[in-house]
Amino acid sequence: MAGKEEVFVGSIDQGTTSSRFLIFDTAGEPVAVHQEEFTQIYPNPGWHEHDPEEIVRSVENCIEGALKIFEKDGHSKDSIKAIGITNQRETTVVWDTTTGEALHNAIVWTDTRTAGIARELKAQKGSDKTMNICGEPISSYPSATKLLWLLKNVEKVRKVYEAGNLAFGTIDTWLTYKLNGGPEKNIFVSDPTNASRTMFMDIRKLQYSDEMLEFLSYEFDLKKVHMPKIVRSADKEVYGKLSSGPLKGFPIMGCLGDQSAALVGQKGFEAGSAKNTYGTGCFLLYNTGDKPIISTHGLLTTVAFDFDGKPVYALEGSIAVAGSGVKFLMNNLGFSQASHKITELAESVPDNGGLVFVTAFSGLFAPYWIDDAHGTMFGITHHTERGHIARATLEAVCFQTKAILDAMQKDSGHELKELKVDGGMSNSALCMQTQADLVGIPIVRPKMRETTALGAAIAAGFASGVWKSFDELREVNTVGETVFEAKMDRKESGRMFKRWGRAVQMSKGWLAEE
Ligand code: G3P
Repeated sequence: MAGKEEVFVGSIDQGTTSSRFLIFDTAGEPVAVHQEEFTQIYPNPGWHEHDPEEIVRSVENCIEGALKIFEKDGHSKDSIKAIGITNQRETTVVWDTTTGEALHNAIVWTDTRTAGIARELKAQKGSDKTMNICGEPISSYPSATKLLWLLKNVEKVRKVYEAGNLAFGTIDTWLTYKLNGGPEKNIFVSDPTNASRTMFMDIRKLQYSDEMLEFLSYEFDLKKVHMPKIVRSADKEVYGKLSSGPLKGFPIMGCLGDQSAALVGQKGFEAGSAKNTYGTGCFLLYNTGDKPIISTHGLLTTVAFDFDGKPVYALEGSIAVAGSGVKFLMNNLGFSQASHKITELAESVPDNGGLVFVTAFSGLFAPYWIDDAHGTMFGITHHTERGHIARATLEAVCFQTKAILDAMQKDSGHELKELKVDGGMSNSALCMQTQADLVGIPIVRPKMRETTALGAAIAAGFASGVWKSFDELREVNTVGETVFEAKMDRKESGRMFKRWGRAVQMSKGWLAEE
């Protein structure tokens, strides 16, 4: 009797600091992985760019690398049924529709060069109505101000815009466009989880909002810019097929922004479930079901996923600096070159020694939204050593997560019973214990932490019929979780959090007088 046919799903995970390709089996286990870092470009203080072509190359290399491992292990590539894409969100690419060539480096989501444009827009037009239409306040974070900056400051971009050939896209759009062969096939799409990060999309209708396009027009007519068609996160047809490489002809069938993908990968399918991903930044998503909740406490409203035309929404708390804070200690301050060593350093001291580090390298995101906050350390004394700085860097993410959970409770009227976590920093037991101590609920860490990539595989797996219902995924990744229970005295954690709140207030307006 012939053995059961093997079935796999591929997943492109294009993050802020690296690209990866993973191949998952139907039990949700990764069987092959290849990862490649790419160049981080910081041309000026607060600026952060990526080379869009290098991003595409890194993805192609990852597909090749993972496939080699996969085939070496005796699998056939024909058993890969579909490919999903997940990506860093908001990061903005512009290109010429006639040539398919990028006109500038991508402006990365962390980049704060557009804080001035955001301020001007708020001053000219007020900031009341955007939340209710697109779910986001005006800030340097969403794609909108990045596109405006490119139009205003880059002549080449303006010329192509004037000629009517300017294409705008987030990384999902750029990748599907390029991986499908560029202008020839002209696959030009985005899914609602990505489009909801631009400020251009009506969060309820899942289509571009004329009102937002007009509101954000600044000196330009944004309707003249080609914007990708918004399609479902899982679909057999719309995402095209790889046009080259070892998987040439294989279909892309799923697409999710990375934070939505992590929620799906953590099986946060039902209203009330939440996850917190400690990646380059840290992002807490709380599934609110089929109705968007517009936050009045500093959170964003975003699309969690749209698999069948019935979108599911989430409240999001976004933290700009998490793993990038650890990288800062390693690359800029010459701390150890291995991230687990930073945790060891943090463990070498019993507490933060009175040090608070507000890691506001991109201003402060949720729930504060302080564009002009700067990275600031408070409480340095002769007692302070590197261990305290390492500890305070990890704690900064945990404090912001606590502030976000408090806001989420106010917006949703629900108290979370536990918080699922993933992402690089969740490997640090010290960080996760601190998190549990500060929020006072159990922190649940799965054994397999490739949840972002798994989420995109699930989207593609649904579209290709590999999985047919959420129920089939219930058992995926349930064995071997670690649960961190709160141990710290609540008074002590409350005192720490209060001190953090004071530090946040003092980190504002550093350059305001100049
Ligand atoms: O909104 C930015 C986010 O999508 C980036 O995610 O995983 O690179 O921190 P990450």
